[in-house]
Amino acid sequence: MSSHREQAVRRLTAPDIAARKGQTPIVCLTAYTAPMAELLDEHCDLLLVGDSVGMVIHGLPNTVGVTLEMMILHGQAVMRGARRAMVVVDMPFGSYEGSAETAYANATRIMKETGCSAVKVEAGPAVAENIEYLVKRGIPVMGHVGLRPQAIMVDGGFRAKGKTNHERVRILEDARAAAEAGAFAVVVEGVAEGLAREITETIEVPTIGIGASAGCDGQILVTDDMLGLFDWTPKFVRRYGDIRGQIAQSIAAYADDVRNRRFPGPAEIYFAKAG
Ligand code: KIV
Repeated sequence: MSSHREQAVRRLTAPDIAARKGQTPIVCLTAYTAPMAELLDEHCDLLLVGDSVGMVIHGLPNTVGVTLEMMILHGQAVMRGARRAMVVVDMPFGSYEGSAETAYANATRIMKETGCSAVKVEAGPAVAENIEYLVKRGIPVMGHVGLRPQAIMVDGGFRAKGKTNHERVRILEDARAAAEAGAFAVVVEGVAEGLAREITETIEVPTIGIGASAGCDGQILVTDDMLGLFDWTPKFVRRYGDIRGQIAQSIAAYADDVRNRRFPGPAEIYFAKAG
């Protein structure tokens, strides 16, 4: 019989991910629940408990209303399902920007209460100091630049970034600031290919692209988008499934069986013991 120690799987760490710069592309997906994390774990290097959970699971219009409690609850669920992949939890809007001390208090809470290996923040020079403060105190941080969903109120909505020279320079600066502050990887969202490549060539840590071309060191998608859970998919998402269609078909079949007394059948009911 193999011991508990032998059965233990080594979880990937921030240094493992950082060491993949320019190597085999890093496979990442979002996860919000234990069963999904269990399914994704053997295929992914990194699972992100993204604050997109607010839109995908909780029906919010954007990520601004996501709370620390929501992130912790979903982080705990994902940690129960994932064994090998590195789990990163998003810090929600308002939990890390104000001061380094607040960022540290909230990041330590996320790490202690979920057991995750790192946190992610939307990055740029304005939060670089806070990123450095966390990293120097033992908290691995992933940055996020380009289309920053938490900044849609100032950026004017969900739209691709870096099309003007002014934006291009700013995004490059954001990525540089995150990497120089000690981020172990940087998510690059919704930018043109040339800019994604330039960021990847400029910074020393891996870039993880979403809508940012193959010119990155890894890729991430919102799992529910690529599985086809919604009737609309962004341009950059490749659909690998039609879960929405399959759910609709299954529910229609169940409703039809119930209405026509075909469910439950003999195989699905309990019988009293004879005698
Ligand atoms: O919240 C999220 O799911 C993300 C990914 C889209 C990168 O930040």
